[in-house]
Amino acid sequence: MKMSWKIGDLRDKLDKIGQGHLLNFWGELTCPQRKELTRQIVGLDENLIPQLSELVRGTVNSSSQDKSNLRPADTLLLQDLQRDELRKKQALQSGEEALTQGKVAVVVVAGGQGTRLGSIRPKGLFPIGPITKRSLFQYHVEKIRALEMRYGHVIPFCIMTSEATDRETRKFFQKNKCFGKDESSIYFFVQGTLPTFSPDGKILLEKKWRISCSPDGHGGILNALNHHGVLTSMAEQGIECLYYFQVDNVLTQIADPLYLGLHRQAGADISAKTIAKRDPFENLGNIGTLDGRYCVIEYSELSEQQKTRRRSDGRLVFEQGSIALHVFRVSFLQSLIDGNRRLPYHLAFKKISCVDESGRAVEPTQPNGYKIEQFIFDAFHFAEKVMVVETDRKKEFSPIKNADGNDSPITARRDLTNFFASWLHDCGVDLPFDKNGNSRVPVEISPLFADRPDMLCKKIARPLPSKDYLFE
Ligand code: UD1
Repeated sequence: MKMSWKIGDLRDKLDKIGQGHLLNFWGELTCPQRKELTRQIVGLDENLIPQLSELVRGTVNSSSQDKSNLRPADTLLLQDLQRDELRKKQALQSGEEALTQGKVAVVVVAGGQGTRLGSIRPKGLFPIGPITKRSLFQYHVEKIRALEMRYGHVIPFCIMTSEATDRETRKFFQKNKCFGKDESSIYFFVQGTLPTFSPDGKILLEKKWRISCSPDGHGGILNALNHHGVLTSMAEQGIECLYYFQVDNVLTQIADPLYLGLHRQAGADISAKTIAKRDPFENLGNIGTLDGRYCVIEYSELSEQQKTRRRSDGRLVFEQGSIALHVFRVSFLQSLIDGNRRLPYHLAFKKISCVDESGRAVEPTQPNGYKIEQFIFDAFHFAEKVMVVETDRKKEFSPIKNADGNDSPITARRDLTNFFASWLHDCGVDLPFDKNGNSRVPVEISPLFADRPDMLCKKIARPLPSKDYLFE
């Protein structure tokens, strides 16, 4: 970067983009502070900043389309898939072929902090194993290693972190020797940031010498994959499918061959897995179509009438919720980058610590500014072919979002135990269950011990070990 920027150059640039106030405290700054601020100002995108400022001021509308015409997406329902033995068999074969031929890489978005969970540590470090307290990351990696053993091919694991989670995540992997996965097949890359704005479209200063920034959302993955050369590296390794998941879902099935096969058979640019919502108000995105293009509409954007509307058979019109488990065709992602397709920007009105015009530090008690994010699922808009398939919540979805109640560590451990208990049940082992169908004893199975019920049945010794059902 050119470091010979003079104060006059900075002023010119900022005046052009309407952000001259960022230099208000220049006279008070030390040399290192001036350097830091200069670096940030130089990095501001002269085209983007005025657009974001207008968006915040409400003079343009980036992401909010009229949602009243939303139609439910064509979805391959679980019951139909179960019945179609031939389709299942062929899809499984195609998915397994992709894995055996090394055409699949896995990517996890792990840039968020567990704010709702009441933690500032990266979520992937959360100890979730019902018996061992295995972390989310350990589960994810062990699932990938089990697939590598099964299909005899290395599966690259790409981990998107943010400035807030990067250091601790890398350290955690280092300390745990990457949980046994070959280090050279793990790709850490950091997502970008965007400045935060006051409601009048001015960039906020976190300190007199530092612009306030926040992560650019999971949609930032597109830029980040490109910027860090990860997508190119995947293409060079012959990767065809990028299997995308969120770090917080403990039950996530990674690189599920049946799903991969359905995606390949459909020739899809993007695929999505859905589950039937627990109730009309469950906080899940809704996959639908608007003017013939696929889209994901957040729960907060559906009207109450849309959420509760039912079909003649009593089922909700928008019954299917997205669990953010996608397969992307690598060449499709590359075409978005090459075509400079920009995902829309979404605003979130938040409490943002900053300095005010007089330079005083402000710790707001009410929202005072906008954070701006992109969402990866907005890429659906650009996809020509999309495949949506329903899955079983009990087998694939139990995220850790909240400190207690639904989607919390307690429900995730319960669901994980029940999931493993169902495998034991399939092997003819009867466990005690309570009246709600929850196992009364904790069960934990490392994916390295068994990643499928049939494998578990072959490996377990009888009688079973103890009152704790731990298999690793
Ligand atoms: C998200 C989806 C929702 C879906 C649900 C399933 C959004 C806006 N909504 O909701 O449609 O039904 O998951 O669980 O995403 N992340 C980053 N960088 C960021 C922001 C987030 O890596 O800048 C990652 C987080 O680490 C997490 C994931 O993205 O793994 C989802 O973020 P979160 O805020 O938990 O989304 P939800 O509102 O729960």
